[in-house]
Amino acid sequence: MNLREHIAIVENFPKEGISFKDITPLMDNGNAFKYTVDQIVEFAKEVGAEIIVGPEARGFIVGCPVAYALGIGFAPVRKPGKLPREVVSVEYDLEYGKNVLTMHKDAVSPGQKVLIIDDLLATGGTVEATIKLVEKLGGEVVGCAFIIELTELKGREKIGNYPIKTLLQY
Ligand code: PRP
Repeated sequence: MNLREHIAIVENFPKEGISFKDITPLMDNGNAFKYTVDQIVEFAKEVGAEIIVGPEARGFIVGCPVAYALGIGFAPVRKPGKLPREVVSVEYDLEYGKNVLTMHKDAVSPGQKVLIIDDLLATGGTVEATIKLVEKLGGEVVGCAFIIELTELKGREKIGNYPIKTLLQY
């Protein structure tokens, strides 16, 4: 399966100079979407994932079918003010300004093996913050999986020694 042909490259979106990798054609195609999910399911089995954690919004699209296929849970990472019960928060730097991500305090149990899933690894800021959230809850990060990795941005360096799976590199 050539997944690359199901990614649309959109130049200068959302702003000048950005070459946006649009995964919606891949999601539109049942075979390509199933193949993508199946690849990540295999990785999840290899690392022994017991729960999937995914950041909004596109991390839900990829993470939820993996959790369903394995019959395990999915815990969302959300922007502030979205989760209704007690949360843990992590602040991280963006190019301009700061961002905060949150998780419910009881979303992951101490010692639970967590696979973090998102559509894209760019600077790595989102996954780094997600790792911190999981570890605040006592979870054990066993890996991080993405459809796409933008290699020039060196997001991998923020993940450190955790196992990483990326299906496509640009
Ligand atoms: C995108 C993408 C990742 C993140 C990757 O999300 O889905 O979550 O950026 O970038 P990073 O490695 O530099 O942190 P975005 O913030 O656009 O949110 P969305 O999924 O809600 O569109």
